[in-house]
Amino acid sequence: MDIKKTVDLSWDDFDELRDPRPAENDFDAVVERAVSRRGFLGGALAFGSGAAAFGTGLFATTPFARAQGAGFDFSPIDIATGFEVNVPEGYAWKPLVRWGDPLFAEARGAFSAETGVPLDMSDKVFGENTDGMETFEADGHVLLAINSEYVNPKINLPAASQGVPQTAEEVRLLQNMQGVTVVEIADKGDGWSVLLDSPFNRRITHRTQMTMDGPVAGHALVRTEADPEGRSPVGTMNNCGSGKTLWGTYLTCEENFNGYFGATGSYDETAGFKRYGIGDKGRYAYEKFDARFDLSKNPQEPNRHGWVTEIDPKDPKSTPVKHSAMGRFKHENAEMVQAADGRIVVYMGDDERGEFIYRYVSNASWKKGEPTDGLLSDGTLYVARFNDDQTGEWLALTPETTGMPIEEMLIFARMAGSKVGATTMDRPEWIAANPLRAEAYCALTNNKNRGVKPNAGGDETPVGGPNPREANNFGQIVRWRPKGEDHGAKDFTWDLYVMAGNPDVFDDAYAGSDNVTAGNMFNSPDGMAFSSDGMLWIQTDGDFSNEGAFVGHGNNQMLVGNPESGEIARFLTAPNGSEVTGLTWSPDRKVAFVGIQHPGGSWPDGTGKPRSSVISVWREDGAAFG
Ligand code: FEO
Ligand code: CA
Ligand code: CA
Repeated sequence: MDIKKTVDLSWDDFDELRDPRPAENDFDAVVERAVSRRGFLGGALAFGSGAAAFGTGLFATTPFARAQGAGFDFSPIDIATGFEVNVPEGYAWKPLVRWGDPLFAEARGAFSAETGVPLDMSDKVFGENTDGMETFEADGHVLLAINSEYVNPKINLPAASQGVPQTAEEVRLLQNMQGVTVVEIADKGDGWSVLLDSPFNRRITHRTQMTMDGPVAGHALVRTEADPEGRSPVGTMNNCGSGKTLWGTYLTCEENFNGYFGATGSYDETAGFKRYGIGDKGRYAYEKFDARFDLSKNPQEPNRHGWVTEIDPKDPKSTPVKHSAMGRFKHENAEMVQAADGRIVVYMGDDERGEFIYRYVSNASWKKGEPTDGLLSDGTLYVARFNDDQTGEWLALTPETTGMPIEEMLIFARMAGSKVGATTMDRPEWIAANPLRAEAYCALTNNKNRGVKPNAGGDETPVGGPNPREANNFGQIVRWRPKGEDHGAKDFTWDLYVMAGNPDVFDDAYAGSDNVTAGNMFNSPDGMAFSSDGMLWIQTDGDFSNEGAFVGHGNNQMLVGNPESGEIARFLTAPNGSEVTGLTWSPDRKVAFVGIQHPGGSWPDGTGKPRSSVISVWREDGAAFG
């Protein structure tokens, strides 16, 4: 495949190049078959075990209401298809920081609407394609840590490059535009803005020195010529969702790291490379200009990526730490809670078709103020099994259960999960834990391969349980409650909070669950976060064609869900082309910071290149709403 043709692919479609579905299973044909088989999931039992599975009293919530908006203190907004942001009446928004905005005075004016950012300023400005983010407070300073997930090389590189780097300098520019930004912000009376030259301001990129802890650190599989000890990896990549530790540090989650590697010569195509989608051509041709990414020269380098990485935003000199005990996969986000006995529990999704949901549990208990050493390096990794009867179980990954040495088990966590019989899921994206009860939600964004083909490891992906629709192009949100209201428990019960769909087009399972109406339709739930009042904020990254199965969905959006009533209302619509991803609030909860990634047109400037941005959203009456 010509790399120029892969530049515009989504990351999940890029993976399909490495693991194509059988030719006879043409996507359109599959959808047509599924839909024309009206009620294929069973008519009145429209959702099969899902009739029970879908919010029907397992958790003793009130019945879902079709009327929307009743339980919200804003008026839900309509869909939009233009190149603008819309929020409810009584709310307002403005950009906080855009791709290319300076973090330091020397980078003022570095961004050009025509040519982007020059190389010498590329690690002194806000990176591209904003994603997960969290707010921190340090001695009266307010800090944001923000992921820049990937780059759009066509807008970063000169037009002549056609989106494919032609020099080592162009590769370096792209490497600097991704990673993490730590930035101090302040409200000086006219809304929040970036404080230039704050000592906290920092860029962490594909080129920043890291360390690794946990069982894998020092193992032969993570040693390279540049790092013969195997403890000092360089760079954090494809930083997708985020997490915040209970001790106030930032967790950045390395997702589609596989796409950065390629080969200029021969290399051993291992089962590990196949399972993780690592092949001979990287998306950005890094391998041609930076030997670190060349599998024929550095075959162990991919093993040093795909981890949860901890950053202390309050210490600009701190070295980020990759936590190998939390497993290597395509990490979406990391949601930290505590078990009843004080152990640290982190829920994590692996975003690829037919991959798993994981949980890490520390061996030690922790109380505020106690040392945190070892909490994320000494523990047990689990994978989730969801049974059709709405029970489920966390399966421990250990050398005994997997037959794998612990280092290999963590580096190839996917293969370990397959060995213990984890449930293949419809692309687990963000996981959010309800602050008001022991309960967690995972956005299963979509999976056109559900019931169509196995995952990259050959595990079957049968229709059923929390993945109840074949060729699922709408997505759903599964939630689970641990036994005894204890996140440390092995057993849980689950249901579906919502199945996205289109009740205007379908009258079967593809219509969606009862809390999906003509007035709140959406597809492909992705980012999620709870506000302190226990409302679930849902961000989408889906089909924004507003046609066919998606007519009435409009642009990507952010909605608010009431976990008790099931009601869902649309709060924000994003510019055409973009996804909404990343959500955090100011310490006083009066301003929400929302990520708008890969917008189209010339948003938000109205002229020149489109700029991925974090925006501030507030209530015009100044009240808190987060
Ligand atoms: Fe980076 Fe799965 O979203
Ligand atoms: Ca995502
Ligand atoms: Ca997504």
